[in-house]
Amino acid sequence: MSNRDQLEQWDREHLWHPFTPMQEYAALRPLIITRGDGSLLYDLDGNAYIDGTSSMWCNVHGHRVPELDEALRQQIDRVSHSTILGLANVPAIELARKLVEVAPKGLTRVFYSDDGATAVEVALKMAFQYWHQRSDPKPRKTRYLALHGAYHGDTLGDVSVGDIGRFHDLFKPLLFQTLRAPSPHCYRCPLGLERRTCEIACVGELERLVEQHADELVAVVMEPIVQCAAGMITAPDGYLRRVRDITRKHGVLLILDEVAVGFGRTGTLFACEQEAVSPDFLCIAKGLTGGYLPLAATLTTDEIYSAFLGRAEEGRTFFHGHTYTGNPLGCAVSLASLELLQSRTLPELAPKIERLKDHADRLRELPHVGDVRQRGLLLGIELTLAGAAKRVCREARERGVLIRPLRDVVVVMPPLAIEDSLLERLMEVVYNSIRDLESKA
Ligand SMILES: Cc1ncc(COP(=O)(O)O)c(C=O)c1O
Repeated sequence: MSNRDQLEQWDREHLWHPFTPMQEYAALRPLIITRGDGSLLYDLDGNAYIDGTSSMWCNVHGHRVPELDEALRQQIDRVSHSTILGLANVPAIELARKLVEVAPKGLTRVFYSDDGATAVEVALKMAFQYWHQRSDPKPRKTRYLALHGAYHGDTLGDVSVGDIGRFHDLFKPLLFQTLRAPSPHCYRCPLGLERRTCEIACVGELERLVEQHADELVAVVMEPIVQCAAGMITAPDGYLRRVRDITRKHGVLLILDEVAVGFGRTGTLFACEQEAVSPDFLCIAKGLTGGYLPLAATLTTDEIYSAFLGRAEEGRTFFHGHTYTGNPLGCAVSLASLELLQSRTLPELAPKIERLKDHADRLRELPHVGDVRQRGLLLGIELTLAGAAKRVCREARERGVLIRPLRDVVVVMPPLAIEDSLLERLMEVVYNSIRDLESKA
């Protein structure tokens, strides 16, 4: 049996893939990646694919980036892991310092974890505990408000604030209840209004809920600027600023989940910068390590942090942590990634965003394209034909491009450092795969 046949067999027999209908998967020939280079991934046969999902929205500078590889090598020669429960390590300290330097004002404390899900879970728990431990405690605050269509990860706290039926409904008996405000979804306005004249009425509904439930609300939780897994829903300008003002006015904390939109994805280092918003909690993961290793962080303010201080016997400690929290390899590669983002990848991003805009305009003219939503180097193409997004992604793969659908939306999220020629090829394949839907119907 060849090496390839053996791997295919073991994959089929043993590997359970996330978010993957396994019966369907097992019936098809698996695509097994062996290496990467820049924005390309290569399979066992040496075929090249453009990484149009940034390996699940996390890759920033491409694969096998010399600066990141070198940072890892250097750290491996020192130590690969040492706990930060009651101890510290050098890269964890340096990265915390760097994150505070680049994060929105007021976020001065960094709590590490491993993934986007844990970054949000930490924020949910910290915010809850904060209200209990303030000098004037508010123990009635036990609820959260999130948006329709929300996705914040797959642990049960995150699923409770989430709202994607096919992912979350089954687990309802296990979840806490969350208040739900309308998504700022201009293409399918939940209030049936037109963007030109609506004056962002959906935020009025959020304010009504916050005002009515302020006594029991711990926090409002949302993704700023783009609700990604909800279908790349782009909020109108000014929406986020108004949410920040509303939460402040009514004494409710604001948790911003930048797991998907952080680290340059929407054109600025953090999406919330675009509306000069500083949240009470900022959750980051995915692009934090440039897409190399699982590392996450929840940033918060001195005000929150100080409610956790006191003698150990007072029981104000935050009893939450993960074994690999503050992992030195993850922190070292994050430091190198942030440096590269600031010195090269972000400064070179604007022309790529413009290029993508031209492609977005072209896509709008195709039949079966209902809406095209773009922020930075992130594109959602909503198709009007049921099941078509999946077909388009399958077709694109045949043509050497890896992309994934979100229901009726084709998502394009290449590494921020994608070369111009590869961005052109990627978008050509996406365009042709949608155009050819007709002929292959
Ligand atoms: C907005 C958002 N939050 C949280 C998560 C969960 O992150 P992870 O998959 O790293 O747990 C995701 C994952 O896609 C996400 O898009």
